[in-house]
Amino acid sequence: MQLTREAVERGVVPATRRGRGRGRWRAPALCSVAALGLVVVAGCSTATTTGAATPAPRGASSAGARVTEAAPAARDSAAARGVAAAERIAAMLGPAASQGPAQDTARREAFIDSLLSQMTLEEKLGQLNQPPGQWGDTGPVVSKGGEADVRAGHAGSFLGVYGAAYTRRLQQAAGESRLHVPLLFGYDVIHGFRTIFPVPLAEASSWDPATVERSARIAATEASAWGVTWTFAPMVDIARDPRWGRIVEGSGEDPYLGSMMAAAKVRGFQGDDLAANNTLMATAKHFAAYGAAEGGRDYNTAEVSNRTLHAIYLPPFHAAVMEGVGSVMAGFDEVAGVPMHANGPLINGVLRHDWGFHGLVVSDYTGIMELQRHGVAGTPEQAGILGLKAGVDIDMVSGIYLKDLPAAVDSGLLPVRDVDRAVKRVLRAKWDLGLFQDPYRYSDAAREKARTLTPADLQAAREEARESMVLLKNDSVLPLRKDLGTIAVIGSLADDSLSCLGPWHGAGEAKDAVTILEGIRQAVSPGTKVIYAKGVTPVLGGTDTTGFPAAMKAVRQADAVVLVVGETQDMSGEAASRADIDLPGVQLALAKQIIATGKPVVVVLMNGRPLATPWLAEHAPAILEAWFLGVQMGPAVADVVFGDANPSGKLPVTVPRAVGQIPIYYDHKNTGRPPNPNDHYTSKYLHLPWTPLYPFGYGLSYTTFEVGAPRLSSATMRPGDTLTVSVDVTNTGKRAGTEVVQLYLHDEVRSVTPPVKELRGFQRVQLDPGQTKTVSFPITVDDLAFWGLANRWIYEPGWFTVFVGSSSVDVKSARFDLLEGSGS
Ligand code: BGC
Repeated sequence: MQLTREAVERGVVPATRRGRGRGRWRAPALCSVAALGLVVVAGCSTATTTGAATPAPRGASSAGARVTEAAPAARDSAAARGVAAAERIAAMLGPAASQGPAQDTARREAFIDSLLSQMTLEEKLGQLNQPPGQWGDTGPVVSKGGEADVRAGHAGSFLGVYGAAYTRRLQQAAGESRLHVPLLFGYDVIHGFRTIFPVPLAEASSWDPATVERSARIAATEASAWGVTWTFAPMVDIARDPRWGRIVEGSGEDPYLGSMMAAAKVRGFQGDDLAANNTLMATAKHFAAYGAAEGGRDYNTAEVSNRTLHAIYLPPFHAAVMEGVGSVMAGFDEVAGVPMHANGPLINGVLRHDWGFHGLVVSDYTGIMELQRHGVAGTPEQAGILGLKAGVDIDMVSGIYLKDLPAAVDSGLLPVRDVDRAVKRVLRAKWDLGLFQDPYRYSDAAREKARTLTPADLQAAREEARESMVLLKNDSVLPLRKDLGTIAVIGSLADDSLSCLGPWHGAGEAKDAVTILEGIRQAVSPGTKVIYAKGVTPVLGGTDTTGFPAAMKAVRQADAVVLVVGETQDMSGEAASRADIDLPGVQLALAKQIIATGKPVVVVLMNGRPLATPWLAEHAPAILEAWFLGVQMGPAVADVVFGDANPSGKLPVTVPRAVGQIPIYYDHKNTGRPPNPNDHYTSKYLHLPWTPLYPFGYGLSYTTFEVGAPRLSSATMRPGDTLTVSVDVTNTGKRAGTEVVQLYLHDEVRSVTPPVKELRGFQRVQLDPGQTKTVSFPITVDDLAFWGLANRWIYEPGWFTVFVGSSSVDVKSARFDLLEGSGS
């Protein structure tokens, strides 16, 4: 739930809610070989096992070295009390403050055991309680009585409360509680805190993990200066249904690309040292298969097979865990009849036991309470027991753990060891963040001022925004000249600063965003006239055409038209599912009139989901998919429209022709009757092609590239070998540009039906005109693994096809053979 001043003021937030594998794919637990009965299942000991030993969260063992860092000087008596509390905590830590990492874990555990032994049941449950903040006069604050709750030890963390001075004050209150346990401040820092970057779906369109890591690093630096210690991001849900509004918050449809982005975000948020004052603990959410909501309706049931769960929905979570993510959030959905907040087999089983995740699991907003509505708990107490036993450590907003679990413990229904386990995880997170050493390390007013909306961060936001656009069509219209006589800019979205920020924009403010209209005005030559006409506003079911005449008048005067259409920011995101995915309202009607003039028209799409726009695809001279690009949207769009930047984005999600094709994704199965236009009894539609409007991985440039045929280092490989695929990429056009070279694999025959192809590698390649570079992709059995019949990751010997190209359909192929036995 996005809690921003704008949302509250505009009444968007309902009253009840106001107030608040680095670079490589790794099969999660690849363990054996079996080939259609030919090869004996080898067992875990003989095969590559990649998922068993999960590293502890980064920084988990370095916090202790920071004990000597002094608490900030006392500024008033309350601050003095806080410093005293910090000193008391330091005294509790004992003398071994400067010992190295090996000792740190032992010290941490000894400290936590000692602290736990002093806690009452009420104080323990307080640590598991996370109340929401609410909007105050100057920013987010705790609700009435919140500070007293902190002093009483009834809150271990807050949702949506930030601000250096205010979080400092709350840490002081925590210091005045009996055991002085510091607070965590969690917030949805999704794609920026105040400096808002492109929405995650747009970031994924860059296919550039390095830029995504950088944006998360900047977001963490900014948010942590405002007292935030913990972000509820990245959202790593795979989404294959564009009706689902939250598709905008993730990286699209593909588990491989999603895993790369998940890992990059975790690295960016958490940095190398969780205890540093400019890093945040990250949260991989929403565990699991939340994006598989039936009908694309938010919060709906996920009906996925165990295989689909493991092959498609879980890999990005696994990647986040391998990268050391500190926490995971349970999803609002149910999987196979078990709500995720009560799903012990997936949380305690797969996540903790199989993957070795040691961090925190936090509920989603009122997720524990909702177990009653799901129909698996008859009372709040039962809901609390189910949640805690399933492994959900922190109860966000429901308040059930604090209020209803004492009785459950007293009556023996809930063993206190279950409570202790969860409390220890919370205390470990606080230790790892360095809060026991200095509860004020994230609440620094000077840093808050200096680190907000800095010119360098704005420049980074502009650079990422440029990379995040996808050029869908260009009939030699783009780039436009900056010295045209008159340019007409049409569409209310062109002048909508709030929509630039997207649906979930943290502490971002509309006033900080530069619109497309403004970006164009800034970019054109002094002699160029820019005429703006609103023309049309995206309204679901809207029929208002009163702006059309003025828009057409502007178009008639113009040498070129930039038509900005799509969705406003509140049409995607949480609880913003749509049953149609076309252009809302009468936007298409205006587009038809404008395009009929024959003028050079550039359609810029602003939207949070793939939009089915077949008419535009056929008739518009140029289409630029811009998504929502953040505070620097306008300058970045102008950079691309006028050719200062050459687009290089690729679609991270398939774009359907019509809503009826959903779900549609590139790694589908072949079926026994693959589509054949000449054969009636094959898998297709009567009245519409089965193919997408735009395929996964697609995106144009202002130059052209030739991706050659793949060359293999060997025609065969064995488990343990690395096979190298090389391909030459040439810039065959007249401008410098970047091509995203993509590698897909297909297992020809195996015991479980294979997808037609699966992404297993990509590289961005920067090329000058005429230049050729050779790109290499290593392939190991990890890349060939699949979730086998025995419910584990396996690979099977046999023939594989490797595809290399510039999208999921524009590819060249070669074949190799995976042999039995072990390689070099
Ligand atoms: C969303 C989560 C979010 C939480 C806290 C929920 O409604 O589903 O993604 O982290 O609110 O804001």
